This record gives sequence, C-alpha cells and structure tokens, in this order.
Amino acid sequence: MKKRILIPGPVELSPEVRAALSRPMMGHRTPDFSAILEECWEGLRYVYQTENDVLIITGSGTAAMDAAIASAIKEGDEVICIGGGKFGERFPKIVKAYGGVPVEVNVQWGRAVDPSLVEKAASESDAVAITLTHNETSTGVLHDASEIAGIARENDMLFIMDGITSIGGDDVRTDEWGVDICVAGSQKCLGAPPGLSFASVSEKAWQAIEENSGRRGFYLDLSAYRKSLGKRTTPFTPAVPLIYGLKTALDEIRSEGLENRIERHRLLARATREAAKAMNLELFAEESHASNTVTAIKIPEGLEDKDVRGRLKDEYGILLAGGQDAVKGRIFRIGHMGNVDSVELLGVLSALEMVLRKAGHDLRLGEGVRAAQEVLSR
Ligand SMILES: Cc1ncc(COP(=O)(O)O)c(C=O)c1O
Repeated sequence: MKKRILIPGPVELSPEVRAALSRPMMGHRTPDFSAILEECWEGLRYVYQTENDVLIITGSGTAAMDAAIASAIKEGDEVICIGGGKFGERFPKIVKAYGGVPVEVNVQWGRAVDPSLVEKAASESDAVAITLTHNETSTGVLHDASEIAGIARENDMLFIMDGITSIGGDDVRTDEWGVDICVAGSQKCLGAPPGLSFASVSEKAWQAIEENSGRRGFYLDLSAYRKSLGKRTTPFTPAVPLIYGLKTALDEIRSEGLENRIERHRLLARATREAAKAMNLELFAEESHASNTVTAIKIPEGLEDKDVRGRLKDEYGILLAGGQDAVKGRIFRIGHMGNVDSVELLGVLSALEMVLRKAGHDLRLGEGVRAAQEVLSR
C-alpha cells in the first residue's frame, strides 16, 4: 500500500528535493557552498516578501522561536503573548525560560484573537514586544497579523511572529505589515525536510538584539548569525544536506510562483472545508479565520480518533494529524501544505468518506468529494 502523509509537517518531499539530499558533501566554508547559501537567503527573502536579512538556523522551528526571544528580550522585559493554541502558548514558556515576563492574551482555541484585547494589554503593560502565531496549526486558525503588527507599531513594541505554517503557503507580507522577527520552519509549506528554521530580522529588531548581545544564549544569539552573514557563511557548521534540499525546494517555489502557490493552498483549503461540511462534519476553527494550510475538523459525536485517523492509516495508508493537548481525541487535522495537489486531496477526501461511512457516520458517499470538485474546478 502506498503511504501518504498529509499532516501539517513534515510534508512529503518532491523527488528532486529527495535527490538533492544525497548529493556529495561540500566544505561549508568554501565559495561554492557560500553561493548555495546566498541562493537560499535570496529565496527565503522572496517567500517572506522582505528586504530584511533572513537567517538560517540548524534546528526545528522552535529553535528560531527560541532565538527570537533569547536575542531580543532582556531579563525582566514584559512580552504580550497571544495564545489560542499549542504554539501560541509556547511563546510565554520561552519568554519565562529567558527571565522575561509574559503578559498572556488568552484566546479560546478555534477562535481568532480579538485585537481589542491586545490593545488593552498594550495599554496596561510596559511590554516591549508582542508575539503571535500567525497560523495556529493546532486549531487551524489564521490570525489577522497585519492588525496585530499595527498595534505593536503604535505602541513602539517589537512584533515577533511565528510564520512556521504560513510562510511559503500563505501571504505573509513581512515588510508591508511590519513583522520585526518572523520565524519559519523548513518542513512545512516550503516543502523541504525538517531540521532548519529561519528568522527574518528588521532594523528595529536588530537594535534591540545588539543592545542585548552577549547577555544570554550563545548558539541562538542572532547577532552571531548577522556577523557571519557579512562573511557569506553561518556561525556554526550548517546541516549541509538540508541546505541542498532547501535550495531545491526554494527553486521549486520560484518556478511555481509565490502567488500561484498561495492560490493553490487557498483553493485546497476551501475545497477541504466544503468537503467536510458536505460530509456532515463540523469545522473546528471559525470559518472567517480558517487556515489555508491546515484544516481542523471535529470528530463526530459517537466516533473516536481510531475510527477516523486509525482506519485511514490502516486501510488506505493515509496519515492525518490528530488533536493536540486540550483537543486531543476531539479533532483531526488535514495538512494541505507544501506539495499537496488537487488529485491527492480528492483521493484523501474520498477515502475519508469511506471510513466515516464504515464507522457509521451519517453521510452520502460522494457528496464531500463533489463539493471539493466544485471548488477545485471553478
Ligand atoms: C505554528 C507552529 N509553531 C511552532 C511549531 C514548532 O515547530 P518545530 O516542531 O519544528 O520545532 C510548529 C510545529 O508544528 C507549528 O506548527
């Protein structure tokens, strides 16, 4: 049975990216390797829609979140952290770990943040930064980042954004919105293997980082990455094969075109939502703020995770993601990011209909697939 993985990262790799991973090793301080790094930096600026430096860190997405806080936040600094899911709620933990003081804006899981709550927190605190998880992967909610960026700007705070499941799959206007530090991960919408993370840094953020440099952290001190950038290299030995894979994945994004790629993700997301509703399923995230890269769906009353995800895996070789933390066993999530296309999605939706029917869920076979086809063929 062919195995398929439609989780919100790691995503399936293209054959070209897989082949790139097995290329011969290179010296990481050679001009030839610097040329590859330069192409990666340039490709990242393209997907980030930024003129800022985009630094490459060896480590998963959380490493870049950690680097952002370690580098820009001083001990005792207050930081407004917007919650609403597993990843939004990770920032306050990192802030605390570095001696900062999180000011948490609680958001009900599945809902988008109400900007007035962030304005209130900004007016009532001495916070120096706001953190937001743009696309909350655990709930399938896409928050309005430009609005939060505006609040940060008006209050002269840094805006630190986790774009880990939006960069490369959705429209992230780093410069236009004013995202001071934007972090991303290789294994999500970029279609590269896991193990690399990225952080774009604005001039305003560099000032805060330089003031703070050397106080804390070493491997994740972003000022070290900036210094190396000037020498066309990285401060520590990079994961050379992952850089080969990243370069190929970024080339593929360029050939597809960022706008086309974003549109593909939006279409797949809309098709998934319409299919779910036509299958008599309930979406977990409020639809006005639904993610374009991952869709969270409630497990119908009377069924369990094993009836849906378990059967899909056992009977069709399809891996979807389950709920995390507070919603474990209550939702399942379809990752339609990276290289997923319409035909693959239709196959998965068709298999989903079959397992739901076998499990006794009330639906008419083909209705979900048809609803998705309506969207995809429009
Ligand atoms: C939005 C978001 N932030 C952070 C992370 C953590 O990234 P990693 O597991 O690569 O450290 C994830 C992982 O799924 C994520 O989806």
